[in-house]
Amino acid sequence: MKDNKLLNMLLQNPGEYISGEEISRRLGISRTAVWKQINKLRLEGYEFEAVSRKGYRLVHTPDKLEFTAVIEAMKTNSFGRRLKLIDVTTSTQEEMRLLAEQGAPSGSLIIAEEQTSGRGRQGRKWLSPPGKGIWMSLLLRPELPLTCAPQLTLLCAVAVCRAIRAVTGVDAGIKWPNDLLVQGRKVCGILIESVGEDELIRYCIAGIGIDVNLEPEDYPPELLAIATSLKMESGQDCNRAVLIGAVMNELEKLYELYVEQGFGPICHLWEALSITMGKEITVKTARGDIQGIAEGLDPSGALTLISKDGQRINIYSGEVQL
Ligand code: BTN
Repeated sequence: MKDNKLLNMLLQNPGEYISGEEISRRLGISRTAVWKQINKLRLEGYEFEAVSRKGYRLVHTPDKLEFTAVIEAMKTNSFGRRLKLIDVTTSTQEEMRLLAEQGAPSGSLIIAEEQTSGRGRQGRKWLSPPGKGIWMSLLLRPELPLTCAPQLTLLCAVAVCRAIRAVTGVDAGIKWPNDLLVQGRKVCGILIESVGEDELIRYCIAGIGIDVNLEPEDYPPELLAIATSLKMESGQDCNRAVLIGAVMNELEKLYELYVEQGFGPICHLWEALSITMGKEITVKTARGDIQGIAEGLDPSGALTLISKDGQRINIYSGEVQL
């Protein structure tokens, strides 16, 4: 619960009016101070009915992430334990880059209610309206060569996919390398930005965007055909704090597995959740379009295609078209 005595008083008496006089007496503040606090809460998205001689009644509570709710949803040792919640920012990737350069530890997490310049892969924009999605960046400081960064990307996709399935029951699958799709429409995107030194990773910022409680009217028409939300797929609101906790739990578990046993086990999990495997696909790459049957991942995390003439082609970056 928010640390606001006035709000908690109204929350504890759902549907009931409490007079301004009673609030001011119980809180030991003036009537003007009560009115000011109500107006401040209105700006945060709370809605009140104010009726003369009856008082105030809370009629709508915004779905706002609470620090304690997020922390309590996690069972991790380090992932997400250093948590920063922000109302509005340009991009959590930018916020995390600043923290990373100041020496923030591995596992630090930044979550924003809204991003004004959320960014996606290949320079695309990422729609991030307030209060409806999970827009977050996790800092990782693995002691690994830079060439391992693509494997971390795939690991993140597995972790988020497993968390979504467990929390919502929505049948999300992975499109190479790390898009999560439901019935062919994108519900989550992952952007890994790595900073290296002497061929080694200095740090990675895993940016995760999940369309949780967005409604069709939240999307511009051109996105509606290719994007969806967990709410639109399940027909139910999803508790964002619980889902963030589940993502952190899965990420930490898989990251520890990866550090102990290498990419092998993650690769199998990824292939099992992939919607691309065994399918005839086209991949748009910087070298042009490449067609073939998706066979699996090679040990570095590249996508292996078998072309019509039986050639095995490894693809390191590109956009899969199903
Ligand atoms: C993609 O599929 O293109 C990747 C989208 C990544 C979006 C997330 S939202 C949190 C973080 N901050 C950003 O600006 N981008 C990532």
